[in-house]
Amino acid sequence: MKKVGIIFGMESTFPPALVDRINSFNDPEVQAELAIIGEVRMAEPSPYHVIIDRISHDIPFYRGYLKNAALSGSIIINNPFWWSADDKFFNFALGTKLGVAIPKTVLLPHKYHPPGTSDCSMRNLEFPLPWASIFDYVGFPAFLKPFDGGGWKNVYKVNSPGEFFWAYDQTRDLCMTLQTAVNFKEYFRCYCVGQQNVHIMQYDPSLPFHERYVKHPAPVDPKLLERVERDCLTLCRALGYDLNTLEFACEDGIPYAIDFMNPAPDADINSVGPANFDWIVNQVAELAMEKARKHTGKISEYRWSAFLGGRAAASTNGQTARQVSQEVHG
Ligand SMILES: Nc1ncnc2c1ncn2[C@@H]1O[C@H](COP(=O)(O)OP(=O)(O)OP(=O)(O)O)[C@@H](O)[C@H]1O
Ligand SMILES: [Mg+2]
Repeated sequence: MKKVGIIFGMESTFPPALVDRINSFNDPEVQAELAIIGEVRMAEPSPYHVIIDRISHDIPFYRGYLKNAALSGSIIINNPFWWSADDKFFNFALGTKLGVAIPKTVLLPHKYHPPGTSDCSMRNLEFPLPWASIFDYVGFPAFLKPFDGGGWKNVYKVNSPGEFFWAYDQTRDLCMTLQTAVNFKEYFRCYCVGQQNVHIMQYDPSLPFHERYVKHPAPVDPKLLERVERDCLTLCRALGYDLNTLEFACEDGIPYAIDFMNPAPDADINSVGPANFDWIVNQVAELAMEKARKHTGKISEYRWSAFLGGRAAASTNGQTARQVSQEVHG
């Protein structure tokens, strides 16, 4: 018997629906439940062969539990090691190398010193920063947003150096990025599951939260959708995520990937709507079943050099990242 466990936080629709869907397959060899975690001893296996992690980004205890479980062969969606190592700025850089269109982005040092550090800790930092060059590269309008994080927290749209410096002052000790604003016509949020199946949803970030997933979308150029799907697969295969949401803002027919580090993506029925909810519950249930059936107890490949170098390159159909990048950026 293979057990699938779901670790979750405040969400209350997706996890129980997933458990019900997996159990509705009535496979005598696979059973799912909301995971129960108690004493966690080092190097001891978890009772769950497959674990779907929806919350370890907020609860370090769970992240520690998952890494320990991986050591004894549990399969975790998503890879807790890579998730710990990953950040949005790295993602933008990787996407650029892979030929995905990414708005120009720079990494900025924390506005205020992180706790326990002082200006003495920052002696490697050029002062003042070359602001004129940074603004020249990124341009305005631009988005100032954390290099890690989500939930639209600490995201500022700025139209001038003055607005930028005001917003930067609000960012405390967060590590931020500054990114060219895309003047988008179409905007998509896409689920990608198992590095295989993509579900593209039109999304309108200007609407209130519960109306953002557009219910009756206008038709879109199929070529644009094809490219969005291809980019989703390229990025998820490179990053090794089995479950992710990727966001694209499209200007002049070019889909710019602006956020694709969402390894515990929003899947609440009240925000994504019943049809999208059904899709994601089904897909993740199928994926968990497949992983459970294939589970051997052998430790999975958790080294990332292989997928960043190998599979990512393969996903661009034999072209080098540089060739593809030239096609994209002209
Ligand atoms: N480069 C950009 N061009 C245009 N709009 C942007 C850009 N970057 C961010 N935005 C806008 O800001 C919103 C939040 O940005 P982003 O997705 O990067 O942050 P987040 O914290 O992950 O938010 P969420 O959880 O809503 O995805 C986006 O939905 C989009 O409307
Ligand atoms: Mg986002």
